[in-house]
Amino acid sequence: MDKQALELNTIIQEKNAVVYELLSEQGKMAFFPKCGILSQAAQANGKKINATMGIATEDDGSPMRLDCLTTNIGLSPEKIFLYAPSFGKSDIRAKWQEFIYNKNPSLNNKTISLPVVTNALTHGLSIIGQMFFNKKDEVIISNLYWENYDLVFEQPFGVKFDLYSAFKGSGLDILSFEKKMINKSNEKKIVLLNFPNNPTGYTPTIEEAKAIIRIIKESAEMGNKLIVILDDAYFGLVYEKNIYKESLFTELADLHQNVLAVKVDGATKEDYAWGFRIGFITYGIKGGDSDLYAALEAKTAGLIRGSISSASNVAQSLLMNAYANPKYIEQKQRKYETLKSRYQVVVNILEEHKEYSKYFKPLPFNSGYFMCVELVDVDCEELRKLLLTEYSTGVICFGGVIRLAFSAIQKELIPELFENLYDACKKLAS
Ligand SMILES: Cc1ncc(COP(=O)(O)O)c(C=O)c1O
Repeated sequence: MDKQALELNTIIQEKNAVVYELLSEQGKMAFFPKCGILSQAAQANGKKINATMGIATEDDGSPMRLDCLTTNIGLSPEKIFLYAPSFGKSDIRAKWQEFIYNKNPSLNNKTISLPVVTNALTHGLSIIGQMFFNKKDEVIISNLYWENYDLVFEQPFGVKFDLYSAFKGSGLDILSFEKKMINKSNEKKIVLLNFPNNPTGYTPTIEEAKAIIRIIKESAEMGNKLIVILDDAYFGLVYEKNIYKESLFTELADLHQNVLAVKVDGATKEDYAWGFRIGFITYGIKGGDSDLYAALEAKTAGLIRGSISSASNVAQSLLMNAYANPKYIEQKQRKYETLKSRYQVVVNILEEHKEYSKYFKPLPFNSGYFMCVELVDVDCEELRKLLLTEYSTGVICFGGVIRLAFSAIQKELIPELFENLYDACKKLAS
């Protein structure tokens, strides 16, 4: 094992041996090179002759560039063309941490890591897999989960999903979650929570959130060592009162010394910037200090250096410009209102059209982009195809439910979507 990895491991072991035990074999070997090309280039920064950089320069020393690329982007060449650091640019890392504190007031002054920038959330989740998953590890996750977790986790890391049932009646099946968490002691447990959830569009109520946190704490008190991954892709898109509006990271970040909380989030959905590919990984654990977090950040950045090298500079720069814009908050609020009004239309339609329940019933939803309906005596795939061919309507079918992205449909078309669904079901049932 490289000496630099050993150094990081020693710090982690001294600070919290549980975190060290949670690391995968690959995570234990990971490090960010302190003495390679990058650090030699950093030391040569500002010198008259700098022959270290893996870029090309114009004769005035600025980044070499094509005019046809610069003309469309109103940023200085350094903010567009240069490589960003593997950790992410320092300004956006600090800004995102400030956002996390602002958006989650209960975090108060709990110590968390500086976010490390990833190539959006999918990549962030994959990096977490590298850091913490060993072959045959089990990942506790709800039976209604984002389909891409199969490709991100199950196949590359050889882990197994240990499914609990998402819902009981109109809320979460807390007992089912509890059974997975409180069944054994002194073992490594990986938990993946995603709220607002894809596909269901559900976020826990305040009571449910408290129950989840209580269960995680009890599991930790039984000696289990837990890594809890919060996939917060849709953070902030909560439309009802009495719903837990902060990230569960807020409570988990200092819940227990056996619980490492990992927040994976980003600009993708929070800033409506899907193609920018900017996400963040942030760590929190009770007693975590700057040394422990710096070691985890270095390992994370090392894995990023070894996969994509670094995330897009231009995307980070454009986001930073937006965050400094006085209209940012107001513009974001307006987009939220648009999504909320579409959500409200869906709620109203289901309230008004009780006849729909003959063929489909909504699963609980209160947030995010989506909602799901469960079909009654109608085949999901047949329905999807019929909607495409005869109703010019596209929906997602999987695991016996239909997922509807109300986020992507103008308000005026939502009633037609449900009418089409109803009519197509009727046709198939007859
Ligand atoms: C639950 C969930 N997590 C993560 C992602 C991935 O987001 P990104 O586009 O930032 O990789 C998605 C995207 O659809 C998602 O639904």
